[in-house]
Amino acid sequence: MACTCVVGLQWGDEAKGKIVDLLTAEHDLVVRYNGGANAGHTVVRGGKTFKFSLLPTGVLHPHLRSVIGNGVVVYPVRFFEEVNQLRAAGVPVGGDNLVVSDHAHVIFPYHLEEERLLEEGGGEQAIGTTGRGIGPCYQDKVGRRHAVRLGELAHPDHLLKRLGPIVAYKNALLRSLSPTARQFDAETLCRDYTRAMEQVRPHLADTTRLLHEGLKAGKSILYEAAQGSLLDVDHGTYPYVTSSNSSPAGVWSGSGVPARRLTRVVGVIKAYSTRVGRGPFPTELNDGPDGIGEKIRKTGREYGTVTGRPRRCGWFDAVAARYSAALGGVDDLAVMLLDVLSDLDELRIATAYELDGERIDCFPSDSFLLERCKPVYETMPGWRVDVSGARKPADLPSAARRYVDRLSELLKLPVSIVSVGPDRVQTIFMR
Ligand code: GDP
Ligand code: IMO
Ligand code: MG
Repeated sequence: MACTCVVGLQWGDEAKGKIVDLLTAEHDLVVRYNGGANAGHTVVRGGKTFKFSLLPTGVLHPHLRSVIGNGVVVYPVRFFEEVNQLRAAGVPVGGDNLVVSDHAHVIFPYHLEEERLLEEGGGEQAIGTTGRGIGPCYQDKVGRRHAVRLGELAHPDHLLKRLGPIVAYKNALLRSLSPTARQFDAETLCRDYTRAMEQVRPHLADTTRLLHEGLKAGKSILYEAAQGSLLDVDHGTYPYVTSSNSSPAGVWSGSGVPARRLTRVVGVIKAYSTRVGRGPFPTELNDGPDGIGEKIRKTGREYGTVTGRPRRCGWFDAVAARYSAALGGVDDLAVMLLDVLSDLDELRIATAYELDGERIDCFPSDSFLLERCKPVYETMPGWRVDVSGARKPADLPSAARRYVDRLSELLKLPVSIVSVGPDRVQTIFMR
């Protein structure tokens, strides 16, 4: 019985959505276990593009059950925007194929306001977040007193009792951040969220029990990680990370299913590196408007799905990816966007760093140390042939094949999938 986790090994946007979509047919349940609407997962099939933020991409397969686990933070407004967009595109979404945990935490508009004020006034300390209220909501979850779980919205009297002191606290906090901060009213929020609950109710479930029952009945689960492992709150490039465990470390806590039930962890890597938001990025190509960084950005259409921000681009970093592959217990690799590199004479891969004059080959995840790391590169020849039509390993030019083999060697893991374009069909299964 398959229990697979698809996880990004870089700073997000590795094209996890495409891999999840490719693997869904082999599974019965698709589970998001971390993050929220900060994610942007793209699936392209038959010329049609679908973008997912909060919902698992499994929703595209109505015969599957898609699950938003307890580890996710949910903004009901977004939930319905996404459900309605999918329905408008002819995708059936109902309580039987999309369930959401009653233990998932709820994002309120005061979370968005708190994040906006902190980021805008943050100066050098700003993280460069997606502005979706993710950090403040997780902060409240861990702090306990000011957090609300989705299941609580079904009890209006209880909710109003909870929101009274919470909103008073939040209003004072927001005012202390800025005299012009938005202020909120507990009764209005209670009314709005009680109304939202009427729509959420058909989807609400004890998802931990549901997953355990599924496993007992022999069903297989596909975990869809959001963000990348280097954005994991514990193991990523702290503090320039997201506020959840985006590596497979989050599977257990964010779904209630023991991680030892996983039978396969697929590590998704771009053939180069990107990052959105602030934080150290040793292999970043800051080489101007005519440089390779800009070329990769243009060819790979490297602009954030959620915020539209240009993604920072750079060479593949084997030191960083080796670290996250070990962290996640990765079994095999999916190498994505190989086609984007087709136009380059030569390619570079960071195989080690130099830190304060010393060569190191382990990844320092503390941002203040990583900032001081200079990549040590090896250079490989480019292939300068369009590979987007390749469908089997033999279709790849030998230099492209050597590049993929080198990534595999450096990470000491087999490559099972190579992707040469956004569409489902632009995929090479290597074994
Ligand atoms: P995710 O967040 O990891 O799911 O990745 P995103 O969807 O944010 O970003 C990946 C982008 O690359 C999407 O626009 C995909 O449609 C696109 N994509 C996926 N695979 C390939 C590929 O092999 N080549 C190219 N050129 N684009 C790809
Ligand atoms: P997917 O699932 C890339 C980044 C933000 C910011 C940091 C914290 O599409 O790979 P947050 O809003 O989470 O508090 O922002 O994390 N970030 C992502 N970068 N892909 C994502 O998701 C991201 N989700 C968050 O840019 O640097
Ligand atoms: Mg994305």
